[in-house]
Amino acid sequence: MKASVVGLGKLGSPLLAVLAASGFEVWGIDVVPDTVARIQAGLTPVQEPQLQELISENRVRIHATGDWRAAIAETDVTFLLVPTPSGADGAFSNRYLLSAVEEIGRVLRDKAAYHLVVINSTTMPGSVGGPIRDRLEAVSGKHVAREIGLCYNPEFIVLGNVVQGLLHPDFVLIGESDARAGDLLEALCRRVVGATVPVARMNFINAELTKIAVNTYITAKISFANMLGEICDRLPGADADIVTAALGQDTRIGKKYLRGATGYGGPCFPRDTQAFATMARRVGVDATIATAAQAINERQLRRVAEIITSRTAPGERIAVLGLAYKPDTSVVEQSQGLMLAAALEKAGRQIIAHDPLAMDAARAALGPTVSFAGSPEAAVAAADAVVVMTPCSEYTRFFRSWAGAERTRLLVDCWRLVDPALASDRLAVIQLGHNDTFAPVDDATIAVAN
Ligand SMILES: NC(=O)c1ccc[n+]([C@@H]2O[C@H](COP(=O)([O-])OP(=O)(O)OC[C@H]3O[C@@H](n4cnc5c(N)ncnc54)[C@H](O)[C@@H]3O)[C@@H](O)[C@H]2O)c1
Repeated sequence: MKASVVGLGKLGSPLLAVLAASGFEVWGIDVVPDTVARIQAGLTPVQEPQLQELISENRVRIHATGDWRAAIAETDVTFLLVPTPSGADGAFSNRYLLSAVEEIGRVLRDKAAYHLVVINSTTMPGSVGGPIRDRLEAVSGKHVAREIGLCYNPEFIVLGNVVQGLLHPDFVLIGESDARAGDLLEALCRRVVGATVPVARMNFINAELTKIAVNTYITAKISFANMLGEICDRLPGADADIVTAALGQDTRIGKKYLRGATGYGGPCFPRDTQAFATMARRVGVDATIATAAQAINERQLRRVAEIITSRTAPGERIAVLGLAYKPDTSVVEQSQGLMLAAALEKAGRQIIAHDPLAMDAARAALGPTVSFAGSPEAAVAAADAVVVMTPCSEYTRFFRSWAGAERTRLLVDCWRLVDPALASDRLAVIQLGHNDTFAPVDDATIAVAN
């Protein structure tokens, strides 16, 4: 079986490489000529661990082109991983998908053999079985579930771990037009993920709902942990890490995403949660848990910013460590560190920013007034206050051997990476969710707690 992959971005190029590594001959298609040229030259168009190695090792099976006809005619199955940007109301747009589906449909009109079209982009429930199927049938002149197959197969990967996420998912989700299409996709997926990974097969609408429900459940869990952290900030003697570690032992709850630290960000969690709430509203349901997760998330930035602005003066220098939305990625979309830097700058502080991978993206987003340091050491040495926004191993290592700096008098440690014993008469160490280092806001709160 031969496969084509449309959209060679953060998800599409790793999928292309993983399919090639699983033995498939693959054709990549993108509308950006430079992306196509990079793949043709054996170079990754995006930064992702293991991706360059996979492309290099499997180059003999990897082709890239801007010529749809060549790629679609040559292959049996086509995966689509084009953007589905969020609109003002939070619903995802199908415009790039529909344009790609039209290109595919034009080729399929003249292709005699059965072809399977797989939508991997995240869609609003109702899209794949509605406008996408309609457009594919109208342009190709063929019937889905008869001459051609259509599936929805969203990915549950996290950036920075995409290759491993594609190879070892918790489960594979397939929405299918019919059994033939589902069987074909399941067989293909099995060659990538192995025989034991569960495969959940269903109709389109259930699969589309499952995809955004998974991310909404996770954001609710993150916000629950952050709410616990807020309570622990104010409850004398409370420690969010002790509470969440115990909570996570309950198998009904589990440990993942239960840390309690900064809010969530990135290209998926915020927008999938918003889309879930929008979708629910459209069918007359108030998705209270989704909107509460968002409301709690929005106040996390204020929580950290207020700690810093209440303890520093305008003009003072703040080192913001961690600008990507999570460690091991250069993506700054909806990043809490980036948003904090912008908020503190707006409040008159001078920002010295650092991130192991995301400096270029952050520089473009923050503009020329923010300065960037080449190392955490350089950022901290020049700062009056320091805030650690991502749990990078580089920061853990750095603070393990850090003996304090002459100038620095405040360290805000959102992820509890730093030994609180670093605190001294000259250096205040504030750890989110640890009350022993964070003064309660008022006496009434203490009275209630006692
Ligand atoms: N990035 C993630 O963490 C993640 C996780 C799960 C799901 N998704 C979903 O996967 C989809 C793709 O996301 P991404 O992060 O890979 O996007 P991306 O922006 O990194 O890549 C999209 C690629 O598609 C190309 N493209 C755009 N329009 C095209 C067209 N009409 N024909 C061919 N190529 C076209 C772009 O040039 C780009 O290379 C989105 O729906 C997203 O919601 C992303």
